[in-house]
Amino acid sequence: MTALEKINAPPTRLGGTALYDWDHLVQEDRAHRLIYTDPAIFEAEMTNIFGGTWTYLAHESEIPNDNDFITRRLGLRPLIIVRDSNGKIRALYNRCTHRGTTLCRWDKGNTKSFQCPYHGWNFLNTGKLRGVPWPEGYAEDMRDPKYNIAQVPRVESYRGFIFATLNMDALPLTEHLGTIAKIIDEWLDRNPGGTVAVCEANRFRYKGNWKLAYDNSCDGYHVAYSHRSLLETENRFAGENAKGMAYYRNSPDTQPMYMRYTGRGNHFKDKRPNLEKRPGGLWALESAHPGMEHYEAEFIKRYGDRAFALLDLAGSEPVNINVFPNFSLLGNHIQVFEPVGVEETNAIWYGTMIVDDGSVPSDAVTDINALRMRTQEGFPNFGEVDDIANFEQIQRGLMAPEDEWVYMNRGFGIPDRIKTHDDGSITAPATDEAFMREHFKEWKRLMKARPNLAIQREP
Ligand code: FES
Ligand SMILES: [Fe+2]
Repeated sequence: MTALEKINAPPTRLGGTALYDWDHLVQEDRAHRLIYTDPAIFEAEMTNIFGGTWTYLAHESEIPNDNDFITRRLGLRPLIIVRDSNGKIRALYNRCTHRGTTLCRWDKGNTKSFQCPYHGWNFLNTGKLRGVPWPEGYAEDMRDPKYNIAQVPRVESYRGFIFATLNMDALPLTEHLGTIAKIIDEWLDRNPGGTVAVCEANRFRYKGNWKLAYDNSCDGYHVAYSHRSLLETENRFAGENAKGMAYYRNSPDTQPMYMRYTGRGNHFKDKRPNLEKRPGGLWALESAHPGMEHYEAEFIKRYGDRAFALLDLAGSEPVNINVFPNFSLLGNHIQVFEPVGVEETNAIWYGTMIVDDGSVPSDAVTDINALRMRTQEGFPNFGEVDDIANFEQIQRGLMAPEDEWVYMNRGFGIPDRIKTHDDGSITAPATDEAFMREHFKEWKRLMKARPNLAIQREP
């Protein structure tokens, strides 16, 4: 049996999960606790979800030059994302073909080759085995492609965002993204040059299943409760409830914001309609942080009428864009969910900077990025900890096996509340759990499928 056939073999160890009745575990308005707690389901997800559909890996700005690399994961598979010596972006398995150790122990760097720390096999950054120590000790021709590093066969970028899948039958990335791509375009196009560069990240790890984060990604129901202290902090000096996410107070469902599900597990929460449409409308929403008055006065002095449009570039874009299973754009962040185990997840928030494309005064670029750091500190630092506390407590709560169901029925069954549009997308009020019911349909579709997984090696 070839490696490829093995990957695509009918589930053996997963025989238990094949016995699950997925339609029973995920129903229209509720999900069974087992999908968050069962190690066998988690293992099947690493194949069927993080393997069977497009997963976000990295942003091109993290490997801007030839020979740059970073290490990431596809599910639990360790990967080296590299821009090889010819400029091609590859996702190499971070796994020596000799006895399987990780080849690269660094987070990032620049190299033309990777030398295995164990016995010194050396690989080009195309994945090809370049040489082994004392080759006369091998009877076999070590140029056999089976010794070249395995790599993910399908790696595609959408406007700088690098996604990968092992599934040869998956749709091309742009088709897979469908109409969510338009919202990603809008998120990008407000920035100079229609792009951003990734800077460093806030890294959180929580003791809970990865789906708890995705279930929260478009959740407008929790904000006023989970994030009460954040809302109070943001509005402490505001005089009225005008800052940050204050529009979740009182009656959020009658606000112009809404959620839209666009298919394949993807959705977005659009809070932009709540904004005043004027230069400075976004900046006005930013909560107080040290130094902002100084920057504002300085920008007015330097750039006159243009000052507030420039300050808007520092403000957090009020939209949450979520691409199943592991990618969110939230404010000015790229958020990535990385499963570690059935009850453990990394939630990583990459900050983004604007780039100097000549359309913005150069001295403003640095200042906007300095301000952007402050505005990016606000929500993730003070908001994510609230969410993570809830994810960990859900995982604890779900340890009661007799109490089987979690409910996602907000808005379900109320006539005319949820609208289906001509393009098949679905809109609902901001606090509805329609997004969750819909992404679980995609989860179930993938869990029932037999994905056509493959790896490839350089010839
Ligand atoms: S495990 Fe890599 S050279 Fe031996
Ligand atoms: Fe939250």
